[in-house]
Amino acid sequence: MAYETIIVDVEDHIALIRLNRPDALNALNAQLLGELVTALQAAQANEKVRCIVLTGSEKAFAAGADIGMMSEQSFVDVFMGDLFTEETDAICRIRKPIIAAVSGYALGGGCELAMMCDFIIASDTAKFGQPEINLGVMAGIGGTQRLTRAVGKAKAMDMNLTGRFMDAAEAERAGLVSRIVPAKELMKEAMGAAQKIAEKSMVTVIAIKESVNRSFETTLREGVLFERRVFHSLFATEDQKEGMAAFLEKRTAQFRDK
Ligand code: HXC
Repeated sequence: MAYETIIVDVEDHIALIRLNRPDALNALNAQLLGELVTALQAAQANEKVRCIVLTGSEKAFAAGADIGMMSEQSFVDVFMGDLFTEETDAICRIRKPIIAAVSGYALGGGCELAMMCDFIIASDTAKFGQPEINLGVMAGIGGTQRLTRAVGKAKAMDMNLTGRFMDAAEAERAGLVSRIVPAKELMKEAMGAAQKIAEKSMVTVIAIKESVNRSFETTLREGVLFERRVFHSLFATEDQKEGMAAFLEKRTAQFRDK
């Protein structure tokens, strides 16, 4: 499929999706999110793809939802149209792991999109923020919810109420990003992480993604029970036999996703 607002490359079991609206710092509109969902669903359906990396440009991962597109909309427009709900629900339903590789601005919907990914690797130039308050609105696709779970109430309130940006070092300290690397090494680091994941059993990878995400939806007791049952169920796979045998035989495991 020919995309206009994203660039997709599939190589070595990794789908690399690059947001590509350079004139608007990758601001999110219906076309971009629609194309992103199509590309993610294609990656989900493509048996060759074992991990997905989502990135933007050096200057911006994404500077938020498209303000020009939103400026003339009424309450009824956004409420009845349920602005971006379908797209973001579809993104969150992707079962394969998605790494966000963030350089430059990840603001508003851009920060929220990065947080919908499974983890964020940031360049030392990254800046995260929920500045919607400056536009007379507030976060609408997770900035008061996922950010609070990631960094806690104090920082989430600070970011959402003042609209200030968090640099990469603060974001790492606060637990929003998993690693920081120099800007020129960002893609190498993200692709390396994706490659590591691609080498694992896909059955186990998806089980882990589901289990970690479960922790956001349930009590600790129920979450640990869910985890334990999924752990038990992995003993029904050939990959468990292979992984443990390979360890004991001091060789690299050859997983077959079975
Ligand atoms: C539309 C945007 C945009 C956006 C930047 N641009 N952000 N267009 N929507 N969110 C455009 C600018 O208008 C400009 O276009 C070009 O990109 C370059 O931006 P500049 O402002 O000239 O660059 P710079 O001075 O470097 O400042 C970068 C910036 C700033 C700090 C990121 O652009 C900025 O503050 N952007 C808005 C960030 C924001 O408020 N995001 C939250 C959006 S609301 P021209 O044509 O002039 O060159 C949101 C809600 C999500 O995300 C919930 C949805 C349900």
